Amino acid sequence: HLSADEKSAINAVWQKVDIEKDGHEALTRLLVVYPWTQRYFSSFGNLSNVTAISGNAKVHGHGKKVLSAVDEAIHHIDDIKHFLSALSKKHAQELHVDPENFKRLADVLAIVVAGKLGTAFTPQVQAAWEKFSAGLVAALSHGYF
Ligand code: HEM
Repeated sequence: HLSADEKSAINAVWQKVDIEKDGHEALTRLLVVYPWTQRYFSSFGNLSNVTAISGNAKVHGHGKKVLSAVDEAIHHIDDIKHFLSALSKKHAQELHVDPENFKRLADVLAIVVAGKLGTAFTPQVQAAWEKFSAGLVAALSHGYF
């Protein structure tokens, strides 16, 4: 469980995040660094290179959608598993996303966040953020079992 200090660190991180811009950056990084994740987004059109991915309007829109869900999850931080259960089931049963990819998305999001916060991303803040991320990944993976 998250302590009050951890929650305030997570909220401090999240205040610095721009859902649209940083969502776009995180999803772009996922698709570039782990190119096999592109196969889930075949309806998004051209994802053939970094320029195509970062300029793709659907990637842009979807990055915002993903971070909006993270935003809502932060607002339900004490009940994250229950809150994300329908979304988890959707990724498991309809989208057939390998849950390893949730971890990968959490990793690229941490990189984006670290870049934004700079020295404010202290080891303590990072630890709280990693704990939240692990809970997010676990909640999204829950519907697979
Ligand atoms: C759709 C959130 C990770 C693949 C969605 C939707 C949300 C969402 C909110 C829209 C659901 C709806 O329309 O009902 C998240 C969150 C993630 C995550 C919060 C992790 C933090 C991933 C990963 C992949 C993925 C890692 C694949 C590598 C998809 C696909 C769709 C989708 C293919 C449907 C896209 C479309 O055709 O519009 N996700 N997602 N998601 N997600 Fe995720």
